[in-house]
Amino acid sequence: MSAPPKVWFITGSLTGFGREMAELLLRRGNKVIATLRKPEALAPLARKYSRDQLLVLKLDVTEEEEIKSTFAEAHEAFGRIDVVFNSAGDGTSGGPQCLLIGAFARSGTRAGARVPPLSVPSLVLSYIG
Ligand SMILES: NC(=O)c1ccc[n+]([C@@H]2O[C@H](COP(=O)([O-])OP(=O)(O)OC[C@H]3O[C@@H](n4cnc5c(N)ncnc54)[C@H](OP(=O)(O)O)[C@@H]3O)[C@@H](O)[C@H]2O)c1
Repeated sequence: MSAPPKVWFITGSLTGFGREMAELLLRRGNKVIATLRKPEALAPLARKYSRDQLLVLKLDVTEEEEIKSTFAEAHEAFGRIDVVFNSAGDGTSGGPQCLLIGAFARSGTRAGARVPPLSVPSLVLSYIG
């Protein structure tokens, strides 16, 4: 039996882990908010899925106000966020992950309350088995 679909909020969706996760989750019927610095670059992927399943939004994870507004827009669009997959980064530090999750937690949203700082990898693994 397959798992019920979930709503995933992904950062760094253009390449690497973020892109792979977005495409895998979409193929499995999940809903994805794919965020990246240049959303137009995901136009080919966006054409393959309905707006009900894939929402592409601009997000630079170093911009705290943009994190808040993008997360709020995503939450509004789908009514909930089940998992945050924070893949954005340049490999030099874990800073973007801490900023992103911390900002969510301060927003007081359901997703923020469920995703404490630094728990993203284990949370994601528990979801994808
Ligand atoms: N691959 C590995 O084996 C490995 C191992 C350990 C840790 N990591 C870390 O895990 C993360 C993902 O790895 P990856 O292999 O998937 O790397 P990747 O292919 O370089 O993907 C990173 C993504 O992050 C985006 N990004 C960078 N800075 C951003 C910002 N400020 N706001 C939003 N997006 C931003 C990049 O998009 P742009 O085109 O906009 O730059 C890119 O799409 C990286 O931080 C990497 O250092 C990777």
